[in-house]
Amino acid sequence: MKLPADKVHRLRPFYNGRTVCVTGGAGFIGGHLVDALLSLGASIRVLDDLSNSTLEHLAELIELEPERVRFLRGSILDDDALSDAFAGAATVFHLGAMCSVQRSVDDPQRSFSVNATGTLRVLQAAKKTNSLAGSGVERVVFAASSSPYGDDPTLPRVETQLPRPLSPYAASKLSAEHLLSVHARCYGMSTISLRLFNVFGPRQPSDSPYSGVIAAFARRLMAGEAPVIFGDGLQTRDFTFVSDAVLAFLLAGASKVPPRGEVVNIGTGRSVTLLELARLMAQAAGVPNIHPVLQPERPADVKHSLANIDLARQLLGYEPMNTLEAGLVELIEWCKQSVPAT
Ligand code: UD1
Repeated sequence: MKLPADKVHRLRPFYNGRTVCVTGGAGFIGGHLVDALLSLGASIRVLDDLSNSTLEHLAELIELEPERVRFLRGSILDDDALSDAFAGAATVFHLGAMCSVQRSVDDPQRSFSVNATGTLRVLQAAKKTNSLAGSGVERVVFAASSSPYGDDPTLPRVETQLPRPLSPYAASKLSAEHLLSVHARCYGMSTISLRLFNVFGPRQPSDSPYSGVIAAFARRLMAGEAPVIFGDGLQTRDFTFVSDAVLAFLLAGASKVPPRGEVVNIGTGRSVTLLELARLMAQAAGVPNIHPVLQPERPADVKHSLANIDLARQLLGYEPMNTLEAGLVELIEWCKQSVPAT
């Protein structure tokens, strides 16, 4: 995954030699963020309970850079694990979560516990480092979600519109955002929530019923099978390539003006229907004659999603670098290299 050279040039002085913690750093987006932080010269602690990820990618990084990558297996609900992971860290990237809307419908208690209570624990642990001797955590950057917009008819989504969450997942991520802004207002911490719009790319898990749609489609297409669409396929999503999401984290962690609990959309400003997505992916995979099959719509599913990214541009200097088509080509290339031929 490549980051734009001019941005990297400007970010390197900030991250070089800096110690940061990435919760959920063994996961899909977290793993790519760790890659980028490593390339910028940071030392990284990863806190992950491996509940939704494996050590595979991280183990390679640790082998390459044993001095700069440290893995702690633990939960964000465990205060001891948090204080261990945050000791000496100047920035916390909080991505540890139970993701998937559908998983939260099946297990709302766990979703709230990990995503909302877990975030409260992360914030309190970060706050605690500042009452200890030496310098503590200066900023917490949180992986929030576009899901709280729910079924509000206004498109594109702007941060000022009222949230209308449809799922326990959306409610848990919204609660967590509020906790970040409360920690800015009440305790004077520097925090920021990035509302990620449907992130996709290499290494996204594709083998679970809760997998993101692009990973699930890719897996089926690579096996010569028809992708399954839940609903009429006319629902829309703003798909963000993982390197753009990573860039947003890096910019948010390094911005000169300290954020104070802001909530910022991270997407592309373009959406497609799932029918169009299936067509684009079949084409990119070289199987244009495979057409999707339709199954009943899922509960709590958002119909339309599209980001207004003006605030991200203004606050962070964020600009998405990858079109959906280019991201899909990169993903399919990766799939071809990583799936052994049968
Ligand atoms: C939601 C959030 C997103 C968040 C993600 C975390 C919204 C708009 N987006 O994603 O910000 O990062 O949760 O998990 O709320 N689908 C199929 N076939 C499949 C798989 C999915 O048709 O095999 C459909 C789903 O029913 C849905 C769409 O594809 O309509 C996207 O689903 P998914 O990839 O799971 O993400 P969201 O639920 O949109």
